[in-house]
Amino acid sequence: MINFKTLEKFRDIPTPFYYYDLDILRSTLDEVKTESEKLGYKVHYAVKANHNHRLLKIISSYGFGADCVSGNEVAAAINAGFSPSDVVFAGVGKTDKDIVAAIKAGIFCFNCESIPELEVINHLASQQNKVAQIALRINPYIDAHTHKYITTGIEESKFGINTWEIEEVVKIIYGLKNIRLLGMHFHIGSQITSLPVFKSLCLKINELQQWFVTHNIDLEIINVGGGLGIDYENPDNNPRFQEYFSLLNEFIDVLPDQILHMEPGRSIIGQCGSLISRVLFIKNGSNTQFAIIDAGMTDLIRPALYQAHHKIENLSSQGKIIRYDVVGPICESSDTFAKFIELPETKRGDIISIRSAGAYGEAMASRYNLRDLAESVFSDDL
Ligand code: LLP
Repeated sequence: MINFKTLEKFRDIPTPFYYYDLDILRSTLDEVKTESEKLGYKVHYAVKANHNHRLLKIISSYGFGADCVSGNEVAAAINAGFSPSDVVFAGVGKTDKDIVAAIKAGIFCFNCESIPELEVINHLASQQNKVAQIALRINPYIDAHTHKYITTGIEESKFGINTWEIEEVVKIIYGLKNIRLLGMHFHIGSQITSLPVFKSLCLKINELQQWFVTHNIDLEIINVGGGLGIDYENPDNNPRFQEYFSLLNEFIDVLPDQILHMEPGRSIIGQCGSLISRVLFIKNGSNTQFAIIDAGMTDLIRPALYQAHHKIENLSSQGKIIRYDVVGPICESSDTFAKFIELPETKRGDIISIRSAGAYGEAMASRYNLRDLAESVFSDDL
């Protein structure tokens, strides 16, 4: 939490910057560790949510694995202390170079999404005289009821193997000597706040399990992916881990000797990060006032890209409540963090906190307009 003492320290730090409250991160990790260990589930943190080295080091110290989507993420994860044997590599378009490096590093498993990909991994593994372990990412046709850009398990999604192709895919795998089928993988979307969606996934998984059982195929792992949403309206609320874990436990029939894997990203790292910015100017609009801040869509693209809501606080003012459009300095109208929101009377120089920015904030930053990338600041260092 940002208290008065922290705010005093913020005054000397150039804005915008990402502020990470490591106590929040550690307490989130403690909870996930406790809940997952109770049930024997294996957690792979989704590195795409935030690949900041310092944060990765803390997350890896909890003994979690990493879910990566590029060769650079695999390298960053290993470099931050994740064991290669705990790394999974996903993605619908893996490059040969990244596949070769991941095989060389000895990662745990490739989550595969198409027949040509299986053939390429087999070929590249044979060149190293290795057998690569794979899980099949299956598209379960479940609507995650989240923003359409981050829904990944419906019929028109580019992700995953169609259920009606499984039989053919399994036959092909048995003809390939340098890959070994470990299990099934799913990921139906992100920022899922309706937990019954996960129940539908569990039931679909059970149905697919049956197919493998009747064909005498042992699957060692079931990976349910990520997706658990966070409360952007109330950033001090913890993600609903207990409900999520107990739902999985209640509805998925994990077979004896099978291990359930998962890949949470946002729920681990989202609430510990805030984007801290200063107000540059207050400007009159025709029927609103603009608070123009020095952070923009280059620092946090989620509002521009997904019309995402992030709670905004003015840490410097306790004045009377006024409505503002909070906007960044970039030459795009979509560079708007919020419209017509209530803030205490705001003036040039005030410090603004954009909450719940730990996930897909820093990781999606760009240098558009040749702007500097925001630095990161950690609570332990203040
Ligand atoms: N596993 C796979 C295969 C994924 O594609 C993702 C996220 C995750 C795990 C982690 O999901 P999470 O627990 O974070 O929901 N940039 C968007 C989110 C994109 C998510 C992409 N995949 C945003 O800012 O909302």
